[in-house]
Amino acid sequence: MSSVMQKLLTPVASGPAEPPRNKVTVVGVGMVGMACAVSVLLRDLADELALVDVMEDKLKGELMDLQHGSLFLKTSKIVADKGKRISLCVCHWSGSEGVTSLNRVRFFYPAVQILPLAPTVDVLTYVTWKLSGLPKHRVIGSGTNLDSARFRFLMAERLGIHASSFNGWVLGEHGDTSVPVWSGVNVAGVNLQKLNPEFGLDGDKEDWKATHKAVVDSAYEVIKLKGYTNWAIGLSVADLTESIIKNMSRIHPVSTMVKDMYGIGEEVFLSLPCVLNSNGVGSVINMTLTDAEVGQLKKSADTLWGIQKDLKDI
Ligand SMILES: *[C@@H]1O[C@H](CO)[C@@H](O)[C@H](O)[C@H]1NC(C)=O
Ligand SMILES: *[C@@H]1O[C@H](CO)[C@@H](O)[C@H](O)[C@H]1NC(C)=O
Repeated sequence: MSSVMQKLLTPVASGPAEPPRNKVTVVGVGMVGMACAVSVLLRDLADELALVDVMEDKLKGELMDLQHGSLFLKTSKIVADKGKRISLCVCHWSGSEGVTSLNRVRFFYPAVQILPLAPTVDVLTYVTWKLSGLPKHRVIGSGTNLDSARFRFLMAERLGIHASSFNGWVLGEHGDTSVPVWSGVNVAGVNLQKLNPEFGLDGDKEDWKATHKAVVDSAYEVIKLKGYTNWAIGLSVADLTESIIKNMSRIHPVSTMVKDMYGIGEEVFLSLPCVLNSNGVGSVINMTLTDAEVGQLKKSADTLWGIQKDLKDI
């Protein structure tokens, strides 16, 4: 007796279909991981999406929930797997999910005692680079990609234009000590420091500097209001993924190994404008920074090295 399948379908090709080429693995199915997963799915970036987590029930639940939406998506394969053969890694560390993030790193590298309390995404990226053995251009931290997106949104809003038309970069360490590059801020090629020499500095009557403070405060504010942040980071990680998967060579502020740049002598990860393509980080843009801006980068590098030098086991 033939099955319904045999009666319905006449085979034409022999052998199984070619395996998918673009696979994205999301490690961690918390609020941030799922926002990344959904953003990648809605932008049709992958042929295959894999979810990985140590919490088996939560993993299965999220997996089933997404699979049930398959009718409305164009990613043919959504799976849960062990995902240990990763060839390129974008790291994000979510403070509000710190302990579970730590467990996820342990899942990948169970033999290793890691991390002090409350590390930053830049330290996590360093640890991932060391433990994975991947070359430095294939390990990236989400870094100041989101800080820059918030900065561009808030600055653009003040000017009544779209964030994509406001060119400004926040570099260095993700979070409180990030460095807004006031010297390079421009709209349509018009340098705003030329219009107002005090732009971004203390004593500016228009107080544009307050916008960077708002960027730093905004993460805390969202966490205070809803408990965590997830949508903007999910959208921003999908944007990085697009540049990598589609080999676009777009430039994003992400955390990369900065030893030997700007006089930094240690192996630390900090955000600089990076050309992202299918290699990962293809190259880093050599910014024309003021002495004060270089000083701030070096200070961040020293702070991070202060944390990392005590990580003896990696
Ligand atoms: C990726 O882009 C670079 C630069 O445009 C190009 O040289 C390279 O061949 C591309 N790689 C692939 C796999 O298409
Ligand atoms: C910029 O690039 C050149 C050539 O690669 C290098 O010698 C120089 O040190 C770089 N400048 C900075 C500020 O990193």
